[in-house]
Amino acid sequence: MQESNQSLFQTNESEKDLEGMHSDRQMAQQSTNLELLMTLGMMHVQQEQWKPALNCYQQALELHPNNEQVQLQLAVVLERLGEKDAAIEHYFQALSLNSTLFSVADLYRFAAVLQQGEQYDRALSCYQWALQQQQTPDIYRKIAELLANQAQYELAVSYYQQAIDLEPSWQDYHNLGYTLSKLEQWETAAQAYRQATQLNPTFPWSHNNLGDMLVQLQQWDDAIQAYQQAIAIDSKFHWAYCNLGELYAKQGDLEKAISHHRQSILMRGWQEVTIKSYCFKNDWFTHNIPTWKEHLLPLANHELNTLEIGSYEGMATCWLLDYVLTHQAARITCIDLNFQENFDINIQRTGVSHKVTKIPGNSHEILPTLTPESFDLIYVDGCHLADHTRHDAFLSWKLLKLGGLMIFDDYEWSDPNCPGQDPKIGFDVFLDSVKFQFEILHKGYQMIVKKILEN
Ligand SMILES: C[S@@+](CC[C@H](N)C(=O)[O-])C[C@H]1O[C@@H](n2cnc3c(N)ncnc32)[C@H](O)[C@@H]1O
Repeated sequence: MQESNQSLFQTNESEKDLEGMHSDRQMAQQSTNLELLMTLGMMHVQQEQWKPALNCYQQALELHPNNEQVQLQLAVVLERLGEKDAAIEHYFQALSLNSTLFSVADLYRFAAVLQQGEQYDRALSCYQWALQQQQTPDIYRKIAELLANQAQYELAVSYYQQAIDLEPSWQDYHNLGYTLSKLEQWETAAQAYRQATQLNPTFPWSHNNLGDMLVQLQQWDDAIQAYQQAIAIDSKFHWAYCNLGELYAKQGDLEKAISHHRQSILMRGWQEVTIKSYCFKNDWFTHNIPTWKEHLLPLANHELNTLEIGSYEGMATCWLLDYVLTHQAARITCIDLNFQENFDINIQRTGVSHKVTKIPGNSHEILPTLTPESFDLIYVDGCHLADHTRHDAFLSWKLLKLGGLMIFDDYEWSDPNCPGQDPKIGFDVFLDSVKFQFEILHKGYQMIVKKILEN
């Protein structure tokens, strides 16, 4: 038999012609169908017959999924029908096909909707499309803010800089400073904050944050001046008092450290700090007071058995004794590898030192010796390395009663000197291992969970 050199899948010329004619006819028919469906859809829309209109546009979409008008009209009708999520999806598809379908103002509004729905990448696309239509400082700023919120700091810096190039503003310099600080570019961050203070000398946060950068650069005197400037602008600006306290402690001036911390703590409403003359040279606690008030004050005047891992100078211990462990039978056990001298003095000054059991030593050795399921509240604030937070959390969970609360400190904190060892990493591994045994009461800088199932 003669071998054919024609592939099985090859068609001869006349077959090709036939096919072409056939597909032309199909296309012609499809586009007529599209026009018909779109016209029909529009007529239904004009008569506010949303369901039939939807039907037309859905059929049109099946024929032409990449037609921007089909996507757009479908979105409009879905919005009218109250199907918000589907409408958003089709608006976005329409814009992806042709971003000029929306004016800059509409792109802004749509981006805000997407941001509300936590669709940050899509919101970013909307601002990028807006930027293609108009290059205003505000659009650069919006993109920079979104990028910074998504921890894309390097890109965010370039957008802030473009906003500043078009129109220098103190807010952009301030935010640029913050973004550069996230990249640990202390010198350029300090410069940005300086620019912010020059353009608007009355915003205490720019002076305060400039102080933070100068601390990083070990320019102590300038840092003190910057913090003092923040206080001169706003005498109730407790953050600057607190930062000065930390700075004086670093310099070994404990008297000044203690007095500045007292001022800052007093401003946060913890009156006992002066009434009882507590001595704290560091303050890693009072920024949590609003969260603790919300979740722990309802537990006051109950027979609470509490455990604190990492007590240092006893700041959280004293606050708990003053505000939460107020029942005469309430107790707290404090574990620390290295209690500070001030701990005993402060506990004495609470006036209820009989409620406190102090156990010096390594939490990993002490925790297994404590009675299982005996604590109502556990505060995990010892070593912050991920391996330790995981282990502390795991051992403590066994000690927590059903219905008890556990607080993880510095959940969102990151130590640039210990990459891969953020406390969150350890806490999350632990939480994953007890997935169905807890309910989250608070998730932010700290995390508070309630035990809802037995071990
Ligand atoms: C951030 S401080 C605690 C602050 C304290 N909760 C307060 O309210 O001010 C952390 C403490 O954990 C202690 N620590 C670190 N590793 C530890 C370990 N393995 N066992 C027990 N304590 C530890 C440190 O000595 C330090 O005092």
